[in-house]
Amino acid sequence: MSSSRFDLQYANPRMSEAERRARMQNLGFGKVLSEHMVVVPYREGEGWLQGSLKPYAPLCISPAANVLHYGQAIFEGFKAYRQKDGSIKSFRPKSNAKRFNESAARLAMPELPLDVFIEASDLLCTTDKDWVPGTLDAERLHDESYYFRPFMIGLGDFLGVKAAEEYLFLMIGGPAGSYFQGGIKPVTIWVEEEFVRASPGGTGRAKCAGNYAASLLPGKLAKQRGCDQALYLDAIHHKYLEELGGMNVFLVLQEGSRTVIATPEKTGTILEGVTRDSLITVAKELGYEVEERRISIDNLEQAHRNGDLKEAFACGTAAVISPIGTLLSRRGTWVINDNKVGEISMKLRSALLDIQYGLVPDTRKWMHSIL
Ligand SMILES: Cc1ncc(COP(=O)(O)O)c(C=O)c1O
Repeated sequence: MSSSRFDLQYANPRMSEAERRARMQNLGFGKVLSEHMVVVPYREGEGWLQGSLKPYAPLCISPAANVLHYGQAIFEGFKAYRQKDGSIKSFRPKSNAKRFNESAARLAMPELPLDVFIEASDLLCTTDKDWVPGTLDAERLHDESYYFRPFMIGLGDFLGVKAAEEYLFLMIGGPAGSYFQGGIKPVTIWVEEEFVRASPGGTGRAKCAGNYAASLLPGKLAKQRGCDQALYLDAIHHKYLEELGGMNVFLVLQEGSRTVIATPEKTGTILEGVTRDSLITVAKELGYEVEERRISIDNLEQAHRNGDLKEAFACGTAAVISPIGTLLSRRGTWVINDNKVGEISMKLRSALLDIQYGLVPDTRKWMHSIL
């Protein structure tokens, strides 16, 4: 790929084929990164400067850099998939580019032109084409992908609390294996009634590093209780479902004769997931009734008691859909669908994966061709 926006002369000589192949065995999530990265500096008054493709290497920044003290750090996550014909396409990268800029605005960071974001991901993935897993074996196709991690940090060499005047946009990436090693298993989720993830007016809607730092303790405590992750409630009433530390949440409810797929509405305090949005679209197209609404923990308890809570699942780029088999809280243990993978959850999961792997026509123009 030729580009005037990115200097390519620092690209690393490629890793040997044998070493790359060895690293691509037993892929998990986020464990293997390629040997390249894209870097674009920003300076106030000058704007975004020429970027470069570089070897993946440690960064050298000032000990007084904003990111180290005041946390100007945002990131994104999206994937590219090897298609049936061997080509490579990313899924809705513009949605991530837009959300990245919304996060940047909230943290008083400069917005990055959408085409720089897209060009950076195309360049990285094209350079890393051998790191994009994919065989034409249908089972593996549904498991592996290339994960992009774009991020931006505030730099500077000054300890005053103010927005930095210099920034770095970076993009790293690597192959991602199955989220569920050994098959899809329903997860157990702790309903977190004490710690909150985000409050109105805060940064919940932004994908900023601080949100994740704050979720680590509740996540750790949830694990100590035998749960996989925590499900957060709203910060004002400690009552309405919000989302998990790294995924949105959906319920399948029987309401009289209606089967409703419900998800917490956008309140400005949840991350507006690209998977969430895609599943809403796909579910509606499959003929399901979908409602974005406030869901209280009391409603949930009632629905479970009445046998109306048919399925629950978490969703996000990494897992697409992760079925929830059990909700644990101070109020008790609620087993959902006999702790089995739900039919609707799996139907939606397959429908989205089929689009991502190009097994069905891309009628919504969600796929972006890279190579
Ligand atoms: C807090 C949070 N919610 C939801 C999601 C799901 O978002 P997406 O579907 O865009 O991956 C993520 C994943 O990035 C997340 O970190």
